[in-house]
Amino acid sequence: MDDEGVHEAVVREAFRQRWLVLGRRRPRHAEAAAEEGGERSGERAGQCVTGIQGRCHAHSCLRFWTKDRDAVSSRAIRKCAIYGFPGDGINGEVPGDQWQKEGDGGMAQDAATPWHVEASRYPATGPDIDKYRFLLRYAILAPSSHNTQPWLFRVFDDHLEVIADRSRALPVVDPIDRELVISCGAAIGMIRASLLRFGYSGDIELLPDSADKDLLARVKLGSPHEPTLADQARFAAITRRRSTRRKFEDGPLPPGLAEELGELAQVDELELAVITGSEAKSDVAELVAEADREQHKDPEFRKELSEWLTSRRTSSRDGMSLASFGAPDILSSVGGFIIRTLDVGRRVAANDKLLASNSPALVVIATRDDSPRDWLAAGMMHVTALLAVTARGLTAAYLNQPIELAKSRPRLKVLAGVSGVPQLLFRIGRGPAVKPAVRRDLEEVLVRSPPARVKP
Ligand SMILES: Cc1cc2nc3c(=O)[nH]c(=O)nc-3n(C[C@H](O)[C@H](O)[C@H](O)COP(=O)(O)O)c2cc1C
Repeated sequence: MDDEGVHEAVVREAFRQRWLVLGRRRPRHAEAAAEEGGERSGERAGQCVTGIQGRCHAHSCLRFWTKDRDAVSSRAIRKCAIYGFPGDGINGEVPGDQWQKEGDGGMAQDAATPWHVEASRYPATGPDIDKYRFLLRYAILAPSSHNTQPWLFRVFDDHLEVIADRSRALPVVDPIDRELVISCGAAIGMIRASLLRFGYSGDIELLPDSADKDLLARVKLGSPHEPTLADQARFAAITRRRSTRRKFEDGPLPPGLAEELGELAQVDELELAVITGSEAKSDVAELVAEADREQHKDPEFRKELSEWLTSRRTSSRDGMSLASFGAPDILSSVGGFIIRTLDVGRRVAANDKLLASNSPALVVIATRDDSPRDWLAAGMMHVTALLAVTARGLTAAYLNQPIELAKSRPRLKVLAGVSGVPQLLFRIGRGPAVKPAVRRDLEEVLVRSPPARVKP
């Protein structure tokens, strides 16, 4: 069965399950399925959740939703995986819940929120599989673009796997899944920081299967490692790290921090530039402002952003609260609507310009090339840097807009004086305490190995 056929099978199943199918375009097969009694809701940009490799026009149009957005994405992928993928031979059967989310081995009850993890509960004397599960409690606290949390994990007796959840892609702001992969790299970085703290060197193989682009890493414990004080401090910072989109205090960076960040980048063979001069900071700030204006002009960008903005009153476990942007509570419920319908680019630009130029330092991380392997490395390295910053009592906020726009990325490269490709831009400094952003529970992102496929 070709891509189109798989897609049709998934759409039919979606209608059978009475999921809402939302799409920018109205593909022929969705219309046909709708005639069979499916439910359809308004036109909305979305990305195919079938997880089929590559992008095809038929796939870029649909997204399935139930009342619970998270559940439907993973279910749709699961169902699709059970149907099979192009070339595998598809039997159209949905054999129950064979590929289910895995339980957590009884560890859920101690955590009121995913941010509440007690290192003392690490199963040091337990089987390795319990250790892998425990490490993932830290992985899910990683930052991610729009807080999409685009990761899935599989745990085995002797290793764990990190898988890209492309149903959580941001096709407008991140059309080639660059930031999606960086976000997964950030989760791998959190696993690495936890491994070091719990006495393992970590053995991380990036992109271990050339035939499976979604399998981003295979992680083993590695050899015994004596945790250094820095390892312990960075690990302890995992649950305290926040993206703080507020004004930072004026004043210099703590002595030695810029050097520490530079050394961390060298370990991962990446480039890191710390910009502290006022003129250089205002040049970068101007670039950020330009990118803000440009991005907000695009209704598709605003629509996508608004879909990931949440009100304080919702129980959503992904996306960004408007409060995290400093919006007053009264605006929380209407903020998404405002962003979607009005071009507030000038206002956003003016605000970001002030925030960027008045922060003690701007940091740019660059890689040699611009491949998924580079993105993973940037994701891993930058969270190590963020943890080092947090360990010193500072905080950070991303300003990735000039990197997201193809035309401003080369200009940032020049301003930052890096020879490679800029992947991340953030500001660092002392900021006010802010609430942690929401997270999905570990149980939601743990998947079992897919069942063996039956060849026709
Ligand atoms: C690759 C990447 C790009 C990001 N870009 C931006 C950005 O341009 N602006 C911003 O405010 N936050 C950005 N973020 C931060 C996320 O929005 C943030 O991590 C998420 O909302 C969760 O919040 P937390 O970091 O406080 O846990 C980015 C994060 C990642 C990993």
